[in-house]
Amino acid sequence: MNDLGKKSALITGGTKGIGYGIAEALLKEGINVAITGRTKETAEKAAKNLNSKGNDRAQAIGLEADVRDYKSQQNAVEAAIDKFGGVDIVIANAGLGHFNSVEDITIEEWKETIDTNLSGPFYSLKASVDQLKKNKGYFISISSLAGTNFFKGGSAYNASKFGLTGFTQAAMLDLRDHGVKVSTIMPGSVSTHFNGNEPDAKDAWKIQKEDIGKLVVDLLKMNPRALPSKIEVRPTMPPSK
Ligand SMILES: NC(=O)c1ccc[n+]([C@@H]2O[C@H](COP(=O)([O-])OP(=O)(O)OC[C@H]3O[C@@H](n4cnc5c(N)ncnc54)[C@H](OP(=O)(O)O)[C@@H]3O)[C@@H](O)[C@H]2O)c1
Repeated sequence: MNDLGKKSALITGGTKGIGYGIAEALLKEGINVAITGRTKETAEKAAKNLNSKGNDRAQAIGLEADVRDYKSQQNAVEAAIDKFGGVDIVIANAGLGHFNSVEDITIEEWKETIDTNLSGPFYSLKASVDQLKKNKGYFISISSLAGTNFFKGGSAYNASKFGLTGFTQAAMLDLRDHGVKVSTIMPGSVSTHFNGNEPDAKDAWKIQKEDIGKLVVDLLKMNPRALPSKIEVRPTMPPSK
């Protein structure tokens, strides 16, 4: 993708964690960014923080948009087009996890996990695919190593992320003929607010959110002829068990 400075991105779930880290990295490249979250307050507050870094090359806006709702994703895409003139990059990042044995996980927890982590990225891509085709854009989903490695207590989360990995790879085959790049990033442990975590010094061994931001920028800058379609990234030195 050339001329990053003229591009615009939509990042779902950019109010904190990995989505926020990606927003920071894209803004530094001069890419305008629309971030979403479940409430107007969290989304606008995060956008204000992003804009307070004194970057005059690009701007962030915060939008209330729930990835579980297709109409909400359509509205977010429209709002980004109204503000920035188009959408070139979509990062389907919003996600959560409920971890429990299959006996104990509730129907509500199962549904929330699948609706957010699997149907959400589908709605985000469905709502933006015309823009991505028009602009020869890039769609990146944030899956997880849990999208290829299953574990005890992971029934809902593993199902959502295995599904997301498969969905993204199939979409890559559908869209590359139209000049749209599609990749999925599958991180191991990242220092974020995921599952109630409070990022602090105990997380120093983990991947940091800016590392994922850098990885996204590297993908965007890759030669148009090359497409790393499925990227696993893990901490180099996890604590020994
Ligand atoms: N942290 C890790 O170790 C790790 C590893 C592999 C993959 N991942 C994946 O990385 C992604 C980001 O997670 P994170 O670690 O950055 O967690 P996080 O710090 O908890 O951030 C999650 C983000 O998702 C947003 N979100 C949640 N549900 C949403 C919905 N229905 N609609 C719109 N936004 C929603 C949250 O926004 P609001 O709360 O403002 O709505 C927040 O911005 C997830 O898909 C997760 O599965 C994380």
